Amino acid sequence: MYIEFNNTEAAFPQPVNDCPLAVETLLEVRGLSKQYRSKNRTVKVFENIDLQVRPHEVVCLLGASGCGKSSLLTTLAGLQTADAGEICFAGETLTKPDPRLGIMFQDPCLLPWLRVRQNVAFGLTLDAAPKLGKTELKQQIETALQWVGLQHSADAYPSQLSGGMAQRVSLARALVRNPDILLMDEPFSALDAITRLGMQELLLKLIADRRSAVVLVTHDIDEALILADRILLMGGSPGRIVKEWIVPIRQPRLQQLHRLIDLRMEILETLSSSSAGVS
Ligand SMILES: Nc1ncnc2c1ncn2[C@@H]1O[C@H](COP(=O)(O)OP(=O)(O)O)[C@@H](O)[C@H]1O
Ligand SMILES: [Mg+2]
Repeated sequence: MYIEFNNTEAAFPQPVNDCPLAVETLLEVRGLSKQYRSKNRTVKVFENIDLQVRPHEVVCLLGASGCGKSSLLTTLAGLQTADAGEICFAGETLTKPDPRLGIMFQDPCLLPWLRVRQNVAFGLTLDAAPKLGKTELKQQIETALQWVGLQHSADAYPSQLSGGMAQRVSLARALVRNPDILLMDEPFSALDAITRLGMQELLLKLIADRRSAVVLVTHDIDEALILADRILLMGGSPGRIVKEWIVPIRQPRLQQLHRLIDLRMEILETLSSSSAGVS
C-alpha cells in the first residue's frame, strides 16, 4: 500500500495506535533547501522538502546514501541553516536549536573523561536547555537514566560500556531535555542484530510512555516497518521526498511483521528502482 506524497489528504496517517493521533501538526517543514559551498563549487544537497510530523508520530526516513538525509536532520535540529524554506515547530518558526527537539546520532559521541551521569547531564548544559535548579537537574538526570535502564551504571565511564549501553546513554542525553520530538540519525545501525532489536523495543516503550514524536533515519526497511507510523523515501540529487507509505498495523507490531511482507516488497522495489541501494 502506498500513497503519492502530494496527496495531502491521504498523507496524514490514519490512527493506527490505541491512542489516536492528534489532528494538529507538531513539526512543519515548507520548501526547505540546502546547499554546501566550498571554494570551487556549490552543491545542492536537498531541495524543496515539505514534511509534517504530528504529535506522537513516528516518521522513518529511508533513502540512498548521499541523498541528504543527515543534512536534513541536522538542519531540522538547527545545527546548520537552510538556504530556503521554513521550519515551524508548534506553530513557531525555528531559527536556532531548540530544546523541544532532541537529536541522536549513529555514533554515541560520549565524552570519555565523564561518567555516564555527567554525559547525560551534558544535554542540560547546552545554551538552549531549560535552566534548572540543582535538585531538579539531578532528578531529571536520574529519570532519564531510568528510562533507558542505566540507573545502576550511572558512575561508569564510557570505556566500560557495551555498544548498546553507550547508545542508551546517548538516548538518555537526548531525552533528559524532555524533547517533544526526537531526531535520530541511524541510531542503531552500528549495533549487532540482537542489541538493535533491544534498542528498537526500548524506543517503542519510550514512545508509548513519553508520547514523543520521532523522525528516524534508517537504512533498514525492517527497522522502519517495526517503528514507523509513516515511512518517507528520500531520493535524487539534490534530495527530495519522493514517496510515502503508511504502516497500517498498530503497535505492538513486532509479532505481526509477516502481515507487512507486501509493503516490504513494495518499498524494496521502489528503493531498487530509484537508486542502487540505501546508505
Ligand atoms: N558539511 C558538509 N560540507 C560539504 N558537503 C557535505 C557536508 N555534509 C554532507 N555533505 C555532502 O552532502 C551530501 C549528502 O550528505 P548526507 O546529508 O550525509 O547524506 P546521507 O545522510 O543521505 O547519506 C553528500 O554528498 C555529502 O558528501
Ligand atoms: Mg547519513
